[in-house]
Amino acid sequence: MIILINGASQSNNQPILTVKNISKRFGNVQALKDVSLEIYKGDVIGLLGDNGAGKSTLIKIIAGNFPADEGEVFLEGKKVNFNSPSEARAAGIETVYQNSPVCINATVYENFYIGRELVNNFLGIKLVRNKEMQNGTMEVLKNLEISLPSVKAEIGLLSGGQRQAIILGRFFHWGGKIALLDEPFAALGVAESRKGLKLIRDISQKGLPIILITHNIEYAFQVMNKFVILRHGEVVGAGEKKDVSVEDIVSLITGAIEIKE
Ligand SMILES: Nc1ncnc2c1ncn2[C@@H]1O[C@H](COP(=O)(O)OP(=O)(O)OP(=O)(O)O)[C@@H](O)[C@H]1O
Ligand SMILES: [Mg+2]
Repeated sequence: MIILINGASQSNNQPILTVKNISKRFGNVQALKDVSLEIYKGDVIGLLGDNGAGKSTLIKIIAGNFPADEGEVFLEGKKVNFNSPSEARAAGIETVYQNSPVCINATVYENFYIGRELVNNFLGIKLVRNKEMQNGTMEVLKNLEISLPSVKAEIGLLSGGQRQAIILGRFFHWGGKIALLDEPFAALGVAESRKGLKLIRDISQKGLPIILITHNIEYAFQVMNKFVILRHGEVVGAGEKKDVSVEDIVSLITGAIEIKE
């Protein structure tokens, strides 16, 4: 087995996102200690680790929920310091949680075009181009093979998996740079999880890198090409999926294998 600490190096192109020596403490808890990772176009990184390992803390720092105590985050080579998740989103970083917020009373297509509504101004009167927005949404969903009863359905009536698919589809369509998925399968059944896995694969193949947090190692194995494993806030293993087995990953997560640099 080959475990590459601090990730496999790739010199031919620039990483989309670089996390450098991040540390974060909450009171007495050292949630993250000197964590570094790089993610390139087309990567799906499985960010794995047991409960409390620091996974959510890391993506919350990347997504602007709170600052790190130490360390830096770079987006396409430029250092970033987001003060809020909306700032991070505007820069191209989208987080999808188990229960990601959407406008539940609005329709699928209204959610899709939120903040980007197509309107005509006619003698000072705003005319919303609903039909065009509906067609545009249908086209994007069709390209990503996301099936829904109707783009006119209220999003609150859709399943958790369908909502996540819409958030990811919307993000991809409007030019997001990286998607951070924290336990996207936690509330999903088997069929919906399978669709979610396919969408992750499709979207990453279309160029959007993804960091996937999941406790389901089998699911992670189906989509990731690289992994980073955290234990007690530290990276204890990182590398390429092709070099490891599910058992290796489980051993690293639980601490049955210790790897020292
Ligand atoms: N806002 C906070 N205030 C205080 N402690 C926190 C806070 N957020 C996280 N922690 C602590 O930091 C550590 C890492 O938590 P984190 O949520 O990142 O773990 P995780 O790997 O996402 O775990 P899980 O798989 O259970 O979601 C834990 O010990 C947690 O209790
Ligand atoms: Mg978590």
